[in-house]
Amino acid sequence: MKTLELDIRKSGITPTDEMKKAAEAANALLHSGKGAGSDFLGWVHLPSSITDADLAAIEKTAGNLRAKADLIICIGIGGSYLGAKAVLEAMSDPFKQLRREQKDPTVVFAGQNISEDYIHALLEASKEHSVAAIVISKSGTTTEPAIAFRLIKAEIEKRYGKKEAAERIVAVTDAARGALKTLATNEGYPTFVIPDDVGGRFSVLTPVGLLPLAAAGIDIRALVRGAQEMEKATDEKIPYAENPAAIYATVRNALYRNGKKTEILGSYEPQLQYVNEWWKQLYGESEGKEGKGIFPASVTLTADLHSMGQYIQEGERTLFETIISVKTPAHEVKVETDAENLDGLNYLAGKRISEVNRMAEIGVQLAHVDGGVPNIRIEIPRIDAQTIGGLLYFFEKACGISGYLLGVNPFDQPGVEAYKKNMFALLEKPGYEEASKAIKARL
Ligand code: PA5
Repeated sequence: MKTLELDIRKSGITPTDEMKKAAEAANALLHSGKGAGSDFLGWVHLPSSITDADLAAIEKTAGNLRAKADLIICIGIGGSYLGAKAVLEAMSDPFKQLRREQKDPTVVFAGQNISEDYIHALLEASKEHSVAAIVISKSGTTTEPAIAFRLIKAEIEKRYGKKEAAERIVAVTDAARGALKTLATNEGYPTFVIPDDVGGRFSVLTPVGLLPLAAAGIDIRALVRGAQEMEKATDEKIPYAENPAAIYATVRNALYRNGKKTEILGSYEPQLQYVNEWWKQLYGESEGKEGKGIFPASVTLTADLHSMGQYIQEGERTLFETIISVKTPAHEVKVETDAENLDGLNYLAGKRISEVNRMAEIGVQLAHVDGGVPNIRIEIPRIDAQTIGGLLYFFEKACGISGYLLGVNPFDQPGVEAYKKNMFALLEKPGYEEASKAIKARL
C-alpha cells in the first residue's frame, strides 16, 4: 500500500512540461551531488543506507537507558530536537500522563529554549524520577543545549555519582569536532555520530531522531522502512507523474511565483502539530534566504478555524494551504443518540467522529479554495511509524527539489548566525570584546 497520496487538483496549478522538466532536473541534481550545498546531501540515500547493525546499536543503547530510567531528558535545539519531538508527538497517546501504568519511559525535551522557569520546572519534576539524558548537538557548541546539559549533567552526577552518570548519559554529536565530542570522550559517554554530510534539519533518520525515539519505545525499524519506501518512490528514475515530491515541489514553487508567499501546513489530527513545527524549520531554513522563500506557517484544525479561519478565508490573498489528511483513525468512536436531543445533534447519531472530521475537512477545503486559497492535499493511510517515516522523507526530498527550483542553496543557514553574534556580544563572551562595545553603544 502507498504510504502517501498527493492531490493537487484544488491547487489551481497544472504543471507544464517546462515545470516538470525543471523539477526532474532539480531531483537529478540532488542525486548527482553537483548542485549548491552538495556537501550536505547525505540524507538523500540515508534511509537505504541505514544498516541492521546501525539500528541494533541504537536499540541496544536505548534499551540500556530504558532499563535505568523512567524519565529520559533529550537535550537539543532546531534540527537536533524537532524531528524526534514531531515523531514522538505523532505516535504518542495524547493523554499518556493520565495513565497510572506507564509502559515506556517518558521522554521530555530541554535545551530548545533558555527559559529559567522551564529548566527549573524540569529539574524539580525530575527529582521524582529515575533520570537519564541524551544530549544532541552536531556542532557541539550550541548555547541553548549546552546550558541545559550543564545543569542536567550536574543533577545526574549529584544523584548517581560520576561513574553511574556515564551510563545514564548518551551523546549524539560530530565524529571529531566540538566541545560536546571532547566532553563525551573525557567523561566516557556512549556516543553516536551525526554524519558530516547530513545537516541538522535533515537528520531525523540519524541517531539524532532514532535514539530518543527508540528510547521512547517507538518502532524505529518501521519508521526507517517508511522512509526507505519513500526514497524509492521519489528517486530520480521515477517518472515525474508518479513522483509526489517532484509534484509537490513544482506546485508550491508555481504558487509562489503567482504571489502566494505563505504556505500553511495543517492537519485535522492534533497529534501532527509537531510535524508542522518540524516542517516549518525544514522549509524555513532551507528556502528563506537571499530575500526569497515561501513563509512556512501552520494550523491545527479544526481548532484554528476558530482563531485563524477568518484570516485564511478573507485576509491577504497571499496564502495557500497544504493539508495532511489521515484516511483512517486508529480507533472508532461514534456519536450517540440522545433521547432529549437538547443539543440538536441527533442528526449525527451513529456517525463516526472521523466522518464529521472528514466533512469539516472537505467543507473547509472548498470554502478556502472559493476564498482564493489554493489547496494541496497529502493523504496518509493512518498515523503509524511507517507512514510518518514516509511523510518525513517525502517532505525532505520535496524541500531539496523546491530549494533548487527557487534558486537557493537549501542546505545552508547563514542567517541563523546573526542573533548568536549579538547574544555573545551582549553576554561578553571571550573573543567578542569589540562587538560587545559596539552593540552596547546601540542600546
Ligand atoms: O538545521 C540546522 O542545522 C539547525 O537547526 C541546527 O540543527 C540547530 O541550530 C542545532 O545545531 P546543533 O545540532 O549544532 O546544536
